[in-house]
Amino acid sequence: MKSMRKEVEARKGYFGTFGGSYVPEQLQPRLDELEAALSSAMGDDLFAMEFTRLLKEYVGRPSALTYCENISRNYGGGRFFLKREDLNHTGAHKINNTIGQALLAKRMGKKELIAETGAGMHGTATATVAALMGMKCTIYMGAVDVQRQAPNVLRMKALGAEVVSVKHGQQTLKEAVDAALEAYVMNPDTFYLLGSAVGPHPFPTMVRGFQRVIGGEAREQFLAREGKLPDHVVACVGGGSNAIGIFSAFLDDANVKIIGVEPAGRGLETKEHAATLMKGKPGIIHGFRTYVLTEDDGEPSPVYSISAGLDYPGVGPEHAHLMESGRASYVSVTDDEAVDAFQVLCRSEGIIPALESSHAVAHALKMLPALSKEETVLVNLSGRGDKDLDSVLPLLGLE
Ligand SMILES: Cc1ncc(COP(=O)(O)O)c(C=O)c1O
Repeated sequence: MKSMRKEVEARKGYFGTFGGSYVPEQLQPRLDELEAALSSAMGDDLFAMEFTRLLKEYVGRPSALTYCENISRNYGGGRFFLKREDLNHTGAHKINNTIGQALLAKRMGKKELIAETGAGMHGTATATVAALMGMKCTIYMGAVDVQRQAPNVLRMKALGAEVVSVKHGQQTLKEAVDAALEAYVMNPDTFYLLGSAVGPHPFPTMVRGFQRVIGGEAREQFLAREGKLPDHVVACVGGGSNAIGIFSAFLDDANVKIIGVEPAGRGLETKEHAATLMKGKPGIIHGFRTYVLTEDDGEPSPVYSISAGLDYPGVGPEHAHLMESGRASYVSVTDDEAVDAFQVLCRSEGIIPALESSHAVAHALKMLPALSKEETVLVNLSGRGDKDLDSVLPLLGLE
């Protein structure tokens, strides 16, 4: 597996046949400049030291590994653990990547960050690092998401960012990425701080690099506590950054089963889902080759999930490769199952999860009863759910 991954990475920006860079001519020099800056930063110990310092002193890393005793007991079967990215400053894994990329932007002499956001967690994390590093910040967000993730819009504004509400198409994450990419092409002085392990090379590799701290810590913490690795590692997959962040530390451990959870929305039998790996096919979106949900005319399909951070018609290219190579498996969870899991985690463990993360929790809850007492499941709890209370509480009759 190790040698296979090395070979994959040797083909610049490709994971098997996925990834690469399929962009307009005028954008490629910008990506080449980014790749050169990234490679120079990666060879610089001072860059790594500053990244690590900020993760510790500003983000509050390492994030906890939590054993969920009540759920493990109530569900019978296996034992259930959470990697607590919800405890990070700003409340999600997104901050790890924004710190890394903002340091890179600073090193490149850029003065303005632009970003897309769906759930608003990446937008908030970008606005946060822009304030920290004294940069201008513009966030593109679909108008539907501006409504359903209102608390995060207020946070971004408080932090000094301009939030541009994108009002075309479905007015969700895909359109936010379209608008941010367009602004990036138009303005050479900006740095596009992409929020997931998607986009043309070098973004997927760079984002994984900044998020792999999740898996690195989780592996060490699990070994220290349990004296062995987890049997199952589970994470939700939107673009795939929290998932690849935790998966990357376990890919070479053949005994660890790796499971990504996609949003089945109102059901895979309807068109109202965003389960790209399960229902899509290979194609190109936003400048890279991956699985894509498409219409008959080849255009990206309208997608839907209750969770604003998961409704994207593409997926990170490394996940497409991990699925095709058989190293990871991908499943899906409906809106209703995610909302139920949200409530179970609140009521059983006193932890309010993001709706995105609730998808991963829901799949783990389905698995637990069938496992033996010795088996363990580790879920990446990618974020906290304060932002989702307005949409979830009415569904639970708790308005
Ligand atoms: C808390 C949380 N988890 C997961 C995601 C999905 O993104 P990714 O698949 O890149 O981790 C988001 C996206 O906004 C998020 O806010």
